[in-house]
Amino acid sequence: MPCTVIVGAFWGDEGKGKIISYLALKDKVDCCVRTGSVNAAHTVWMKGKRYALHMVPAGFLNQKCRLLIGAGANVHVGKFLEEVELTKVHNRIGVDYQASIIEEKHAIQDKTSAHLKGIGTTGWGVGPALEERVRRTAKLARDIPELQPYLADVSTEVNEGIDAGKNVLLEGTQGFMLSLFYGTYPYVTGRDTSAAAICSEAGVGPTRVDDVLIVYKSFITRVGAGPLPGEISKEEAIKRGWFETAAGTGRDRRSAPFDFELARKVAKINGATQAAVTKLDSLFPKCQGVREFNALPLEAKQFIKEIEKTTGVPVVLIGTGPDALDIIDRR
Ligand code: IMP
Ligand code: MG
Repeated sequence: MPCTVIVGAFWGDEGKGKIISYLALKDKVDCCVRTGSVNAAHTVWMKGKRYALHMVPAGFLNQKCRLLIGAGANVHVGKFLEEVELTKVHNRIGVDYQASIIEEKHAIQDKTSAHLKGIGTTGWGVGPALEERVRRTAKLARDIPELQPYLADVSTEVNEGIDAGKNVLLEGTQGFMLSLFYGTYPYVTGRDTSAAAICSEAGVGPTRVDDVLIVYKSFITRVGAGPLPGEISKEEAIKRGWFETAAGTGRDRRSAPFDFELARKVAKINGATQAAVTKLDSLFPKCQGVREFNALPLEAKQFIKEIEKTTGVPVVLIGTGPDALDIIDRR
């Protein structure tokens, strides 16, 4: 803080939702800006209740936090309204006038376009919606009657917040390795997912960011097609306790062990100053619910130290369970 970017390190589903919800509560975040689109689900657990959010920023758990969706984002109106209702954030959420709109026709194009066959998209229509935006024929938030009560000038609001010393969190979606520019093209999503792109979508210049917090999971997962170095079989993943299904689409997640070299590379390109490591309890079951670094088993400590040594980035937050508060905070 005051202005921190949260970026996913690998192919998404690193547990950004959990890290963001923890920070929103713990650091009294004043403003949380979501980027990206409806394809990304951020899972937030609080006192046994689970939310898989596609549109509302994961910082919503903090009742005082202003929630914003940036101009670079792509808004699914139905999902937005549904989640606003679910999370009861009507009076504190805003959508930038210029955010683009993803429509039902885009989802149909996503599922039927020959050029997208084999990519394994989420099917929400994000690629086709962004194609339309580039063509300059997309609808924007300002064109949608249901969004009128929520319209905001997000970049101005966020920059004035930073000027006033407020705690601002820029919430990245998906993972860096799904970036249109830096990921495993063509098996990528329709936008850049890097820390720099998150700032751009929110309307915050590079000199105004204080920290880039990169989120690693203790093992790697990927949904959809494309390369996954070190991939293990589903049977092996189940045996190791790594098998997951996607929060958004319910599809099986493929998995692989943590990749230190890749971790080093992505930390560099995103300019990470801090790191979080989630799901340490999946790798070392004895870590479950531990909230102090010294209480971790030796091999878990060594794993964290190895990440710090390879990446050169301090691991400040460690996830040890699903609840927003199952965290070791070393800051
Ligand atoms: P699209 O973003 O729906 O076009 O899908 C492109 C690729 O990115 C597919 O492999 C998807 O599974 C993957 N993808 C998109 N969004 C997410 C996400 O939030 N988490 C994980 N993978 C994602
Ligand atoms: Mg997800």
